[in-house]
Amino acid sequence: MYSKESTKSLQQLTNELIKICVAGSVPASAIEKLRNVLRFHEYRYYVLNDPLIADYEYDQLYKALEKIEKDHPGLLRPDSPTQRVARGLTKDFSTVQHLVPMLSLDNSYNADDLLGFDRKARELTGLDSIEYCVEPKFDGASISLIFENDLLTRGTTRGDGVEGDEITTNIRQIKTIPLSAPFSNYGLQQIEIRGEVLINKSNFKKYNAQLTEQGEDPKANPRNMASGTLRLKDSSEVAKRNLEAFVYHVSYFALKKGEQAPELLKTHAGSLKMLWDLGFRSPEKEKKVFKGIDKVIQYVAAFEETRDDLPYEIDGMVIKVNEIALQDKMGMTSHHPRWAIAFKFKARQASSKLLNVEFQVGRTGAVTPVAKLEPVAVGGVTVSSISVHNEEYIREKDLRIGDAVLIERAGDVIPQIVKSMPELRTGHEKPIHFPKKCPACNSILFKEEEEAVWRCVNIECPAQVVERIIHFVSKDAMDIRGFGEANVRKFYEMGLLKDIPSVYTLDFEKLKGLEGFGQKSIDNLATAISNSKKQPLHRLIYALGIRFVGETTAKTLAQAVNHLLDFKDLPLDQLQHLEDVGPKVGGSIHQFFSNKDNVNLLAELEKLGLQLKNEKKDVSGTGSLAGQTFLFTGTLPTLKRSEAEALAEEQGGQILNGVSAKLNYLVVGEDAGSKLEKAKKINTVRIISEAEFLQLTGKK
Ligand code: IVH
Repeated sequence: MYSKESTKSLQQLTNELIKICVAGSVPASAIEKLRNVLRFHEYRYYVLNDPLIADYEYDQLYKALEKIEKDHPGLLRPDSPTQRVARGLTKDFSTVQHLVPMLSLDNSYNADDLLGFDRKARELTGLDSIEYCVEPKFDGASISLIFENDLLTRGTTRGDGVEGDEITTNIRQIKTIPLSAPFSNYGLQQIEIRGEVLINKSNFKKYNAQLTEQGEDPKANPRNMASGTLRLKDSSEVAKRNLEAFVYHVSYFALKKGEQAPELLKTHAGSLKMLWDLGFRSPEKEKKVFKGIDKVIQYVAAFEETRDDLPYEIDGMVIKVNEIALQDKMGMTSHHPRWAIAFKFKARQASSKLLNVEFQVGRTGAVTPVAKLEPVAVGGVTVSSISVHNEEYIREKDLRIGDAVLIERAGDVIPQIVKSMPELRTGHEKPIHFPKKCPACNSILFKEEEEAVWRCVNIECPAQVVERIIHFVSKDAMDIRGFGEANVRKFYEMGLLKDIPSVYTLDFEKLKGLEGFGQKSIDNLATAISNSKKQPLHRLIYALGIRFVGETTAKTLAQAVNHLLDFKDLPLDQLQHLEDVGPKVGGSIHQFFSNKDNVNLLAELEKLGLQLKNEKKDVSGTGSLAGQTFLFTGTLPTLKRSEAEALAEEQGGQILNGVSAKLNYLVVGEDAGSKLEKAKKINTVRIISEAEFLQLTGKK
């Protein structure tokens, strides 16, 4: 479906783009060419998972398109790759009706169930043998999409099957769903398609870690994460979660005048092919067509074996009568179609006994209850210990020591306790008492009103100190190889480590003779420690383990200052101007830098040779504006916005998207609005006129 333009070399394209830009007047067809190139590369990246260009190159093309569209707003189209992004929050999702009700599927669990399904199918159709199409049953949140005249016009949740929530803005953030597709090439004017929104296993882990970091409860499984994300009011947050979608069913279509139904829509396998050819991610590669149920039974059993190799969760297979005319003949009950059935894989659940609850103190002092279980195999791994999060969670699940509990493990995801089974109680079960004092240092525990977590606030609590060091040296933080959790614990117990700075004064002599510590590993450790001093500032910030400051926030913070200790003078309201820094995160950062002990710790680390400067800011590139950031607002007296931006960039300046503490200059023209108001509140932003800007560039 993508034109030859899409595969042209990047250099060729860039040259063409430059010509277009220089020409000044951009023909609509040229913009559309560029859009198709971007769509093609999105398709390669997201649907095929096989990119042809580097992310950076894609970004360059995207920026070029953004710029051209900004200069020629009349040529903007709703299906442009730049138009996924939405501004503002959705207030309430409105309820809308599906064109065709979204039915559920009947379930089967074994070969006998499938044989029974086939018998009925043959009875209903009067055939001896039926052709089936078999595909994965994706374990996510179901959605319904409508395309009209090739444009995506509506995206809806399943809801009660008849009506769902209209979530088009959030659906537009899913890169495997094209914003437009040439259905008209198949004679179609309108089409309603069904699919499943997923979050892959590795992203699930990543976002759950983020939720925990932000003090929120983690989601139990990728399905909950996917459906929760679809309902977020802030679509920019949806965009960050990298949702994916498979489409697997055409529920309705209307033809353009005078057109005939396309051949492909006569079979289910054909409709998957049509959707695939149109640029959607349908299970075109995963599906298989078989005549007769026996091969279907073999295929679903074989597929179950490979289930864990997939990057996303599936909970079974769906078997569909391939021919649509036969499907119509078989019809449906009020719950499910008679022409399809789900084959459910074995649930990865198991029951066990809750033996005890231990309380572990984390690096922020949070006391986490961990359930100790009678070891049990769930989905191929033995589970003997599961976090039960907090006191409220224990109460909600009504857990008692001695209880029989049901465990679930979704893919390679952390196991969860689904529920306790009070029916099986003997009367000897004991309630779980949350400690009043820290199990590591015996200090009284505290709980903030809004929080679910009890904390030990003794900064010197040995459990916290050890966890802080473990975090500090870990891979995503200072990345000191050769340390590892076990060694940190060992060295701490031996008195060789007492706090973070002591990592850099470690007495290597004392390691000699320790089991597993030959000269070579000692040398390697010494080199790793020494190399870590040069880690970029954002890693150090993350390594400090400031509450709510994950890797992304750490990067934002690193960019905002010239030296890490500049934060000690930055008032709370200015911190909140930084991207993704709200009152909670800002409050935590502010508290960290207001604490003298923390400031002393940083000064000590700097003395030890660690990198506290924002090196990027220091590097002065070429051009008079190198290292400076700019934003333009309002109508400038002589320059067009794009010219002014180009001028700043030419001189080494960087253009920012919004007003924040990162901004050095806001250049204001006539009718400047909210940006000016916001900038006035940040004293580090210099507000200047076009004339002053030109002076800076040396053009006046
Ligand atoms: S077909 C009328 N195909 O499973 C046919 N459903 O338990 C409608 N699902 O509500 C469904 N993968 O959300 C179909 N390949 C697949 C599927 C699939 C997942 C979901 C869907 C449905 C639920 C039924």
